[in-house]
Amino acid sequence: MSHADELAAMNRAQAAPGLLGDTPQRDYTEKLRRFNAFARPELCEAIAALAVQADARVLDAGCGTGEALGWFRESAGDRALVVGIDLATAHVRATRRRAPALASVLQADMLRPPLLDGSFDLAWAVNTVNHLRDPVAGVRVLSRLLRPGGRLAIGQSSLVPDMYFAWDARLEQCVNEAVRLYYRERYGRSEHEFAAIRAVVGWLQAAGLPQVAVRTRMIERIQPLAEADERYLREAIFRDTWGERLRPYLRREDFDTLARLCDPDDARYALRRPDFHFLQSFTLAVATKP
Ligand SMILES: C[S@@+](CC[C@H](N)C(=O)[O-])C[C@H]1O[C@@H](n2cnc3c(N)ncnc32)[C@H](O)[C@@H]1O
Repeated sequence: MSHADELAAMNRAQAAPGLLGDTPQRDYTEKLRRFNAFARPELCEAIAALAVQADARVLDAGCGTGEALGWFRESAGDRALVVGIDLATAHVRATRRRAPALASVLQADMLRPPLLDGSFDLAWAVNTVNHLRDPVAGVRVLSRLLRPGGRLAIGQSSLVPDMYFAWDARLEQCVNEAVRLYYRERYGRSEHEFAAIRAVVGWLQAAGLPQVAVRTRMIERIQPLAEADERYLREAIFRDTWGERLRPYLRREDFDTLARLCDPDDARYALRRPDFHFLQSFTLAVATKP
């Protein structure tokens, strides 16, 4: 794709941000890095279970900061061709910095990819199709890029609610509800649109891929937490996903309790509790193209 084409595609994407606000300018590099460092064991295990052939051509659609590109090369070997595509300039830059020699990285809208139909054995998209206004259209595009018999792997975390506070289910429920209210206001989306995230199997079927296998893995952590676990939970969740922005959506006592549980300087800090027990689901639906 020429630079002019790339700019034109970016301008179109800029005109209509995705369902969750993605644009070429949007940058959540740090959150993506923290998530991938934290969930690396489970994501690598899911990649290993796909048993990608040594000479496979693999596409990571919405590759974010590019960790999976390296994991596919580690799993399949040096002969595999690995291509990453992402809309956001900052994410593409981070990916190119991390894996310049391993993979091709393109900045483009995955709905208009500058790639040939039928040219991939596997397309992988984690926590990305749910960012599109029309997920089925996204799945159709990815399916077109596959050869017959190729596989499309759509990964989605948290289809069932995460468990943060094993000792206080009520507070956890209030926090989940507050997050939902915050996102509903911020993105102006209906409950129906947010609930649609669960329909990953249906998206594949609606896009003409009836042969679907699905498996949910649990990402589960207890003490002692690894540094990557603590960073993800403390910075990506406690500080950036929750934090001050939940204050308007919680009763004052609940917000105060939450703030103390999330404060590393407080005696009640959740991540120092011996009974800390965290659960997050990761669902991978794999469809084979007829
Ligand atoms: C939640 S992140 C997931 C990133 C990565 N797959 C991971 O698991 O860390 C969603 C990614 O999709 C990208 N994205 C959103 N809409 C896109 C589009 N239309 N085309 C290409 N990438 C898009 C975002 O820029 C972001 O990097």
